[in-house]
Amino acid sequence: MPSSQEQNGSASRSLVLIKGGRVVNDDCITEADVLIEDGLIVEVQSNIEIRGGENIEIVDASGKLVIPGGIDPHVHFQLPFMGTHSVDDFYTGTKAALAGGTTTIIDFAIPKKGHSHLGAYEQWRKWADEKVCCDYGLHVAVTWWSDQVKADMETLVKEKGINSFKMFMAYKDVMQVSDSEMINIMSTCKDIGALAQVHAENGDVIAENTRRLLQAGVNGPEGHAQSRPEEVEHEATVRAIMLANQTNCPLYVVHVMSKTSARAIADARREGRIVFGEPIAAGLASDGHHYYHQCWRHAAAHVLSPPLRCEADTASFLMDLLANGDLQTTGTDHCTFTSEQKAMGKGDFSKIPNGINGVEERMSIVWHKGVTSGKMDACNFVAVTSTNSAKIFNLYPRKGRIQVGSDGDVVVWDPTATKTISVATQQSVSDFNIFDGMKVSGVPVCVIANGRVVVRDGKVDAVKGSGRFLPTLPYSAAVYSRVSTRDQVRAWKKVERSVA
Ligand code: URP
Ligand code: ZN
Ligand code: ZN
Ligand code: ZN
Repeated sequence: MPSSQEQNGSASRSLVLIKGGRVVNDDCITEADVLIEDGLIVEVQSNIEIRGGENIEIVDASGKLVIPGGIDPHVHFQLPFMGTHSVDDFYTGTKAALAGGTTTIIDFAIPKKGHSHLGAYEQWRKWADEKVCCDYGLHVAVTWWSDQVKADMETLVKEKGINSFKMFMAYKDVMQVSDSEMINIMSTCKDIGALAQVHAENGDVIAENTRRLLQAGVNGPEGHAQSRPEEVEHEATVRAIMLANQTNCPLYVVHVMSKTSARAIADARREGRIVFGEPIAAGLASDGHHYYHQCWRHAAAHVLSPPLRCEADTASFLMDLLANGDLQTTGTDHCTFTSEQKAMGKGDFSKIPNGINGVEERMSIVWHKGVTSGKMDACNFVAVTSTNSAKIFNLYPRKGRIQVGSDGDVVVWDPTATKTISVATQQSVSDFNIFDGMKVSGVPVCVIANGRVVVRDGKVDAVKGSGRFLPTLPYSAAVYSRVSTRDQVRAWKKVERSVA
């Protein structure tokens, strides 16, 4: 058999050969080498031989796992929010992603109420295209409703590569949409084959609790947690699931932070509803006691919505559901603000910019908390950190799989190496890391994005603007395969009566 090089031997080809590792996909593990040529995986088999003096980069993966690059379906880079903008932009954010073994991110274009959704999409594309170091996709948040918004949603799906729309049930008067708006948005998603996403918290309750807490003098970060207790998230999750069921629209619940919400999603799935749930790195590895920390800066750094929960077993419960397939993906909601930005909320917790880090830490956290704990195996790990997101957002098998024809986004993963997460060594330009000091086992030793080695031995060699926008098509099979049958089964029933 001629080798790859003999078959087509142009000296200008870019070749990366990963040798001697165990290739892990979500459904199988094989001992194989992986050859990447000009950004695409071209061979996956044992003992790939390349002869001649071609310029080939060899990566030794013996004793290591070779996994599909991670996909973080939930980040907010340079997000204009709460009077400032998140400090990691599309350059530092994607650099951080790569450092942690994530080679695809999906951000959210979010228009202000009354502003154009197409305009927001174009703005985010402009911000991202010039800075991204890895491939990226976009969700679009629908923050208000009109016939024009409906038309824009259709254009975004048909012409702009968008297949998911997010609704905020919180952030009253800013991004929150009402139930009737949600019904319109979900119905439109269903008509055009898009996935509806929700930030599930009851914004009206939060607004009232915030007013009362501030009136009572509870103005520190602990007020943030108390303004939005678990049932506030749970109620909105259940309501979103009900609205999605009534419109027969598939639903994806972002940042599932509480046991009751996670259970609601799991129960709904068992009843046959088309619902997906995404816990985030922070919720899988931290908890709400930080809001009661003496140090204001420390407490404020943990402010995100929904908040971390105080019950000590929430994180392990979320991991159990992830491992069992009740929850499907892991995101981060990476949306970082410096201590100075967080200080905008000194004296009024409701003005602390909401957001935390995680894009660099997610993969190691999921391995550490999920695999080394014995809850999931390496295939489950690949599923929840990469493949399931690729399937749900219709990027599969281009992303989320190591096979011939897929993109050359591959991570050499050392399952036993350890790392202590540190704000001093992070790629994020924020001055805080909510996981600082945490020792994790399972680290990426080499990261290849689009066929280029971008991380090796802890050194990140990312190129600004080298990532590509990933247009996503509607009617993802993982999401929509049951929808039309469900429509037929659930058709309205009319009784024909002979007497009126
Ligand atoms: O606190 C958060 N989650 N900040 C980012 C915006 C959002 O709600 O996802
Ligand atoms: Zn949110
Ligand atoms: Zn502190
Ligand atoms: Zn978010």
